[in-house]
Amino acid sequence: MEKIAIGPSGMQGSRLAVGCMGLGGGWNATPVGPADVAQARRLVEAALELGMDFFDHADFYSQFKAEEVFGKVLRETPSLRGRIVLQSKCGIRIGGLDGVSTGHYDLSASHILRSVDGSLARLATDHLDILLLHRPDPLMEPEEIAGAFRSLKEAGKVRAFGVSNMNAGQIRLLQASLDEPLVANQLQLSLAHDAFVDSGVTFNHASRERAVWFTDGTVEECRSRRIRIQSWAPLAGGNWSPGARSALEASGRRHAVLPEAIAVAWLLRHPAGIQPILGTTRPDRLEACVKGLEVRLDREEWTSLWIAARGGPLP
Ligand SMILES: NC(=O)c1ccc[n+]([C@@H]2O[C@H](COP(=O)([O-])OP(=O)(O)OC[C@H]3O[C@@H](n4cnc5c(N)ncnc54)[C@H](OP(=O)(O)O)[C@@H]3O)[C@@H](O)[C@H]2O)c1
Repeated sequence: MEKIAIGPSGMQGSRLAVGCMGLGGGWNATPVGPADVAQARRLVEAALELGMDFFDHADFYSQFKAEEVFGKVLRETPSLRGRIVLQSKCGIRIGGLDGVSTGHYDLSASHILRSVDGSLARLATDHLDILLLHRPDPLMEPEEIAGAFRSLKEAGKVRAFGVSNMNAGQIRLLQASLDEPLVANQLQLSLAHDAFVDSGVTFNHASRERAVWFTDGTVEECRSRRIRIQSWAPLAGGNWSPGARSALEASGRRHAVLPEAIAVAWLLRHPAGIQPILGTTRPDRLEACVKGLEVRLDREEWTSLWIAARGGPLP
């Protein structure tokens, strides 16, 4: 599988990435068991077999068990670590779970440092390749974040930094204080969350009926800074609108692939070079998605899918 640059720093990763949120046995307090480890191992091995070497985590996925189970796989087979790019995130604290009673965002330096140490211990590794700030924290102080990044870099704990769910202004604000360029911005993008393209054509359009909630200029800001845009929920968890579903199925029949592959191909066709983060835990669905790399949607088919998903003609 093609390798792509993750940001301007020279780091590389597979065109399609594996999202690990579904690993670890779910959002519950049940301890990780052998079946969870076996599931994680199957997914990692299937991904590597398909050429996918990029794995996305967050500290608290499955109540911290996603990283834990992944770490158990790495402990069993230490040679895997050198074959993969490991990304995790920090900044969301879940109420009742993370030493806080009310859940909140926390991009203070002390929380960032504490969170990374927790991720490294669970993942059984001495460094993360990429750390993302999971969500913008209204109380974030760019200079403080820059200091945390500096000490993580100097300690060899994190190689590169990025963000998630941040808009253009937040990226500019942070970047002005950071020593190094941000490498990624992970956003919810799919045919079910198509406002990243819709906002570009409904701008200044008085008759629009759809609510457009994507901040104008975010995609452009990332592209001009060579920040890799990653898509979370690229399959929308399988929850397509009826229009999107039938368009995906029809396109899938035309190209002799499953609808999942078309959902991936639709993202890949966008010139921003989006890296889909596939959240399936099933090797067969992963393989079906990878077929999307072989589908090149022409302008008309790409637009037809978009129109079917948005539920109305373009302005
Ligand atoms: N940055 C953020 O704020 C953020 C937020 C959420 C997620 N993420 C990251 O993005 C990754 C992907 O996100 P995601 O897992 O929410 O979305 P996804 O990749 O769109 O969907 C994967 C989930 O949907 C299920 N699914 C997919 N297609 C289906 C179908 N046709 N029928 C039934 N179920 C289907 C999968 O089940 P199976 O396992 O059974 O295939 C899996 O649970 C996560 O793993 C995580 O790494 C980031």
